[in-house]
Amino acid sequence: MAEILNVKDATIRFGALAAVNKVSLAQNDGDIISLIGPNGAGKTTLFNLLTGVYRPDSGEIFFHGENITALKPHQRVQKGISRTFQNIRLFAAMTVLENLLVANAGCSGESVLRSVLGGKGLARRRREIVEQCEHLLEIVGLKDKAAEMATSLPYGQQRLLEIGRALSTNPKLVLLDEPGAGMNSLEKEELTKLIYHIKDTMKKNVLLIEHDMKFVMNISHHIVVLDHGEKIAEGLPEEIQRNQQVIEAYLGRATFTFAEEA
Ligand SMILES: Nc1ncnc2c1ncn2[C@@H]1O[C@H](COP(=O)(O)OP(=O)(O)O)[C@@H](O)[C@H]1O
Ligand SMILES: [Mg+2]
Repeated sequence: MAEILNVKDATIRFGALAAVNKVSLAQNDGDIISLIGPNGAGKTTLFNLLTGVYRPDSGEIFFHGENITALKPHQRVQKGISRTFQNIRLFAAMTVLENLLVANAGCSGESVLRSVLGGKGLARRRREIVEQCEHLLEIVGLKDKAAEMATSLPYGQQRLLEIGRALSTNPKLVLLDEPGAGMNSLEKEELTKLIYHIKDTMKKNVLLIEHDMKFVMNISHHIVVLDHGEKIAEGLPEEIQRNQQVIEAYLGRATFTFAEEA
């Protein structure tokens, strides 16, 4: 199976703190990988390394076999990596639809220029882009909210809109940072369906950070566990649930349990 992502010994330090310390991971095309670990483990920082917010102090990142370690964030978006944020970042002064339009892959000046030079009318191109975005809104279940202000949506729907916006750049790999945070169990069921749709129908890869262990165990092919910046375990969901070091890393944390009833 083709490898889409390969992180080799990535390290980044903030002063004395190694927020991510020699972390390696590989993702095969078609697999859903979850990154778990206690707060402060380095999960979001690893996403920041993957998306180019930070450059690693050492180590390398390969995407589809290409070394992207030195690429800037927008170049990585063009290569096909997109993300959502742990703290929702939507454009507050824009509608739901507009939030997708600004991110749309076809909206870059270059792309519009190319379509005009190629004889395609600008109006027609614009209509196509709006249709693409409306289609994405339908996929994330927000089509009837297109004209509402993004920040007027309930929290769970804002998270879905962020996923829609991440899809709007036509990525091959979508990084979801705690997509289920603040969602109720019904919304999480919808989120699970959406992630399967992204993977199976849209043929995109998903790497996610999530704290809800029931959700993670259910959806992941492979789980990578970070603690204090280091990878302490990885494997199949059933292996991770039995891993003593993983259980210990979480001990005493009231919010954490593998048990169904929690
Ligand atoms: N820009 C930064 N400057 C200094 N410290 C940071 C920065 N970003 C993250 N950290 C620190 O790195 C550690 C890992 O943070 P983070 O990746 O956000 O953890 P997680 O997402 O697993 O909860 C934390 O101790 C955090 O305070
Ligand atoms: Mg985080």
